[in-house]
Amino acid sequence: MSGDIDTTRTDIERWILSELSPSRSTTAELSYDRMESQSGRCLPVIYRPLDYSKRSHWQDTGLIAAFTEALRGARRVLDIGPGDGWPCLRMARRFEQIVGVDPSPRRVRVQRENAERLHIHNVEFLEMDAVSLDFADRTFGGVAAASSIEQTDDPERALREVFRVLKPGGRLAMVFEDYGEYFPESEGDEELRVEFADGPPALFYQARSKDPARESKYGLFLDDSGVREDNELEDVLIGLERKAVEFENLSDPSQAPSRPDTLDVRFFERLRPLVVDARYFELRHLTSETLDQILEAIGFEDIRHFDHRLPNLRRFFDAAAEDGRLDELASSFEDIAWEFGAEAVRAAEEGPGDFAIATRPAED
Ligand SMILES: C[S@@+](CC[C@H](N)C(=O)[O-])C[C@H]1O[C@@H](n2cnc3c(N)ncnc32)[C@H](O)[C@@H]1O
Repeated sequence: MSGDIDTTRTDIERWILSELSPSRSTTAELSYDRMESQSGRCLPVIYRPLDYSKRSHWQDTGLIAAFTEALRGARRVLDIGPGDGWPCLRMARRFEQIVGVDPSPRRVRVQRENAERLHIHNVEFLEMDAVSLDFADRTFGGVAAASSIEQTDDPERALREVFRVLKPGGRLAMVFEDYGEYFPESEGDEELRVEFADGPPALFYQARSKDPARESKYGLFLDDSGVREDNELEDVLIGLERKAVEFENLSDPSQAPSRPDTLDVRFFERLRPLVVDARYFELRHLTSETLDQILEAIGFEDIRHFDHRLPNLRRFFDAAAEDGRLDELASSFEDIAWEFGAEAVRAAEEGPGDFAIATRPAED
């Protein structure tokens, strides 16, 4: 290995980069295209009937209201990275036309299937990367992006593209994983998971750091017969796969062992003869401050934020649940949740928050 040692990377990352020379990939290819459902099939309306007794359904409705309020007045809306069709499918009846773009062919297939199943005909889905949008300048009155800008290879370029395709006066409304305020320290900075589905056994190693705000995921694809011949190793890999599934189903992730015993360079050295392909992606994550700097440099104005968890709505729900008033609110819950979401947009301010709104100036 040449050059300085990058101490911001874990030992395993440094080993993979220098010993396996992985080729550069994307989140769409290494993550989202491998998922049957990006949302675990739990999105209200898209997969399940709206249920007033669930706080997550109130919050979902509040967030759809927030996107809708932020983009009010737009006729044609762009949704970047809709996953299983969120938020565009839930917003469809509020806008004339919505176009969803996602570079993952599998996600686009699922988005189209969901639209068809829900009989939604004014939302179109295209396979496209937000970093180079195939639309003319000033095409859309509004752009929505939910947890997607930070999943691109280059968030700054994606946001420049958003500015370009917005009509003057049009707005961007985006939720993003804020690596400043809300970085989930408790989740730790390393994770190992094994997947046997979808082709050869694959081992994914993920490392995240807060400073620099970065997330890297390495996919090591293994020789199937080689794994089967080494029974001991196969047992370890199957154990890791089981742990990953258990982790996903845990109601309290803090109960999970944060660091499997096998998470050291020796384990990777042992695997090395079985690695037939190695790929990785690296994300430069955003904080409220770095996002604002980028938006300002591009030329956006009126940049405001709020907390996408909608704390006022949560408090309202918790109090109603505690007082046993939820049944009473069954018929009005959508309207109430809607008002909390719209109000969050109206009250949004400068400063931190993982829901951001920004406007392309009316005259440039
Ligand atoms: C965390 S999911 C969010 C999905 C959905 N918006 C939601 O909130 O449920 C990220 C989505 O962004 C998409 N994505 C990844 N890279 C992208 C890119 N370069 N351009 C557009 N979308 C991208 C992924 O394929 C995935 O559908």
